[in-house]
Amino acid sequence: MNIKNICCIGAGYVGGPTMAVIAQKCPHIKVTVVDLNEARIQAWNDLDLSKLPVYEPGLDAVVSEARGRNLFFSTEVDKAIEEAEMIFISVNTPTKTYGVGKGMAADLKYIELCARQIARVAKTDKIVVEKSTLPVRTASAIKEILDHTGNGVNFQILSNPEFLAEGTAIADLFAPDRVLIGGDTTTEGQHAIQALVDVYANWVPKERILTTNVWSSELSKLTANAFLAQRVSSINALSELCEKTGADVNEVARAIGMDSRIGPKFLKASVGFGGSCFQKDILNLVYIAKSYGLHEVADYWEQVIIMNDHQKRRFAKNIIKTLYNTVSGKKIAFLGWAFKKDTNDTRESAAIYVADDLLSEQASISVFDPKVEATQILFDLNYLETRSESDNKNGVQVAVDPYEACHNAHAIAVLTEWDAFKTYDWQKIYDNMLKPAFVFDGRNVLNGEELERIGFVYQGIGS
Ligand code: NAD
Ligand code: UGA
Repeated sequence: MNIKNICCIGAGYVGGPTMAVIAQKCPHIKVTVVDLNEARIQAWNDLDLSKLPVYEPGLDAVVSEARGRNLFFSTEVDKAIEEAEMIFISVNTPTKTYGVGKGMAADLKYIELCARQIARVAKTDKIVVEKSTLPVRTASAIKEILDHTGNGVNFQILSNPEFLAEGTAIADLFAPDRVLIGGDTTTEGQHAIQALVDVYANWVPKERILTTNVWSSELSKLTANAFLAQRVSSINALSELCEKTGADVNEVARAIGMDSRIGPKFLKASVGFGGSCFQKDILNLVYIAKSYGLHEVADYWEQVIIMNDHQKRRFAKNIIKTLYNTVSGKKIAFLGWAFKKDTNDTRESAAIYVADDLLSEQASISVFDPKVEATQILFDLNYLETRSESDNKNGVQVAVDPYEACHNAHAIAVLTEWDAFKTYDWQKIYDNMLKPAFVFDGRNVLNGEELERIGFVYQGIGS
């Protein structure tokens, strides 16, 4: 089947950039990205490209090339579904916050709503593509809804999980390590797979496009995130041992990473991984394993999360201990709030949990992040419901520049590895801080020796 019209439901961190790249690389396909959130769609259509709802290096150029040509952002969901031969579902699949599986299982209500809407609207055959990260076997639920509530048209379900990382989304989409497409083993299923292969083949080398059955594809996504997060928790576990023994975690990471079987990537010790997916996807994996009675499997993966929570907590505890066992009334400057550099996304950022612990000890926090707005920072803290919104507001200031954030501070905590942090005038920052001036580098991003020469008391992770 020759695809001429694609619709994507969900204009978020995945739907927006992914569809922008498909549109840019396939000028012969009309791509319409739809969302219920009007403000988000408006932002995607903003002529001022700095107002796009997602910050990703290179995204503005891709959007400006394709938007209005063959890339459209709209709230008219039904119309876009009707027009398209291929529909991507790219809505959020957060951890359930209620009922059975609360705190572990993926909440699939948005997925089900999409399936019901597609079934109601579709008057011609459609290929429905799972782009969201989903529990293994979700495709069968989607198929059931489509087949039982539809208008008698044929649906093929594909799983095409997305592996982009935020901050490098455009580079990842331009040159993916692999594109994974899972589909039915029937002839119709194989045709649907081929239609999606043909879309990606416009820019992805064929040998990097992998096709599997649906269940392998769905499970591979959860597995990839679990393995990646496991590496971070593994090196973070060792960082604590390094601190006790005089070993340096950066040196250990380098030494083991040169073993080609281990590899050098994803071995950076940190204040803990964040982001919208690692925790959610591992909890989901744990839940699925438990639901099949595989308790050892579940416990094994759950430990990755337990370790990560510990890493965030011990970072905050160490600040309190080092500042003579009290931070009450002390100003602590946070450099960074996003969960990693080069993104404005703060979901599950370690910064939120470290701030929460310090606020409970009555610290006064001053935050500077180059891309995160004050409203988001307060939203993140209020979401935890640890204290009243007015207490959060009183405890946190958001600074317009790093020098203001650090002025008269007792300590600086680096929570995100923004490159710009390395280029600051650290002498000026030191001169304007209370002494002793502490730096807790949760990302090992600053030059500790240089800071110590200036007079700072510097502590990185794992050394
Ligand atoms: P997001 O919250 O940024 O975007 C989801 C969008 O879907 C929202 O704008 C929401 O309004 C919209 N939406 C929800 N229900 C809808 C409906 N019924 N109709 C129309 N729009 C609807 O989420 P995201 O970060 O883009 O993640 C989406 C999925 O992709 C998740 O399953 C996630 O696990 C997966 N994923 C995310 C990343 C990432 O880096 N963020 C990477 C790979 C995979
Ligand atoms: C991750 C995966 O890398 C993507 O392949 C996947 O598509 C995505 O999740 C998803 O499913 O959402 P992302 O969360 O955007 O991407 O960013 P990562 O680069 O994986 O970083 C995740 C967290 O781990 C960040 O907080 C980062 O700072 C931390 N991290 C990463 C470390 O602490 N150390 C490392 O060595 C690597």
